[in-house]
Amino acid sequence: MQTTSSIDWELKSWRHKTALQQPIYKNLQELEQVEAKLRKLPPLVFAGEARSLKTHLAKVAKGEAFLLQGGDCAESFNDFNAIKIRDLFKVILQMAVVLTYAGACPIVKVGRLAGQFAKPRSSDYESINGVSLPSYRGDIINSIEFSESAREPNPQRILEAYHQSAATLNLIRAFAQGGLANLNQVQRWNLDFASGSSSVRYQEMAQKINQALEFMEACGISSKNTPILRETEFYTSHEALLLNYEEALTRQDHLTGQWYDCSAHMLWIGERTRNLDGAHLEFLKGVDNPLGVKIGPNATKEDVLKICDILNPKNEAGRLNFIIRMGADTINEKLPRLLKGVKGEGREIVWSIDPMHGNTTKASSGYKTRAFDNILSEVKSFFEIHRSEGTYAGGVHLEMTGENVTECIGGMQAITEENLGCNYNTQCDPRLNANQAVELSFLIADILKHRKI
Ligand code: PEP
Ligand code: CO
Repeated sequence: MQTTSSIDWELKSWRHKTALQQPIYKNLQELEQVEAKLRKLPPLVFAGEARSLKTHLAKVAKGEAFLLQGGDCAESFNDFNAIKIRDLFKVILQMAVVLTYAGACPIVKVGRLAGQFAKPRSSDYESINGVSLPSYRGDIINSIEFSESAREPNPQRILEAYHQSAATLNLIRAFAQGGLANLNQVQRWNLDFASGSSSVRYQEMAQKINQALEFMEACGISSKNTPILRETEFYTSHEALLLNYEEALTRQDHLTGQWYDCSAHMLWIGERTRNLDGAHLEFLKGVDNPLGVKIGPNATKEDVLKICDILNPKNEAGRLNFIIRMGADTINEKLPRLLKGVKGEGREIVWSIDPMHGNTTKASSGYKTRAFDNILSEVKSFFEIHRSEGTYAGGVHLEMTGENVTECIGGMQAITEENLGCNYNTQCDPRLNANQAVELSFLIADILKHRKI
């Protein structure tokens, strides 16, 4: 068996490769001091937890569980508070209950949080009224404010991101074990959502879940006597973009000798940094966490197979998640060919759909937005394509928030382009709001019911 210690990898080997989308720090000595400090700070997650997530994802790869991954496009230093974390956690649990019922399978819950601070950008510079400044690259790097000093990459921000991640994770762990995850409570929120909607279908499904809970209670299974009904497992993830941060939080597990990136349970590589000979693949191939890779419309069968060879040479189930993000208009043309090409090769892959990043448009008012209908359409196509190829549609990956923002248009609330300015809060890309996210889960539930092939 090949272990990370026997492959050609070292903690710093990524430094010899081309790392795209990295900030240029002026003061390298200060960066090194920050890295040294981070290396001494406690890990945010524990290797055993990353291994459990991998076991759950192995079930997703086999069609026996479903992955629900969601959270902010970019976490923010200024807009950081307990209510925001609680509301995101709540919505993810609400969605998970609906999906569990419909899919009759466990839902693996993974937040885009406690580390989702670094952003790849399509352009290195941003121009406003003839003034050109370096682009905002996420709060871990620089500030969103449009001034020369704010846009200068500042290494101290790396430590702030670490501490905010630690505080976020602390609260999430408390919520997961301390009552907020009680199934009866989550179901009450879903009943409120359904009764507030005008949809008979949503109301019927919420009622059916209620009947299932009542039936269990009549059989003597309740949250009072069954811990699994009042607790949950919730994992963290982010894009492993800023490799200095990831390297400094990577530790060797004493039990197994393997390396784990302890900044999160799961890390992914973005569409812009998945070049085969690049630093991001080089770094992540050596850590044993579950990994995601975004797959856009231009990825070829050869790219995908090569990524499998590099990141998952042992072909371990649950190790590798391909996150498709092609766009509602493009997925039908591109994904079937990709799946056909990869299918016969016997690779263990969790396939999930990110219906956000291929569906971004600009409203006439200038706001970046996404249409609920396009998001739903890409999800539906994803399921249909897997069904016809005989592979498993394993999960969804969403940019969403528990807040009542107006960033994506459509949904039951019928947010229009004109309404976008009411509560447009995102640091980066437009997110589904709480209502839109729960609504989407009811619609995915309808599809998931028929997933079994
Ligand atoms: C993201 O997930 O926020 C992102 C930048 O995605 P992608 O790499 O798919 O563009
Ligand atoms: Co985004």
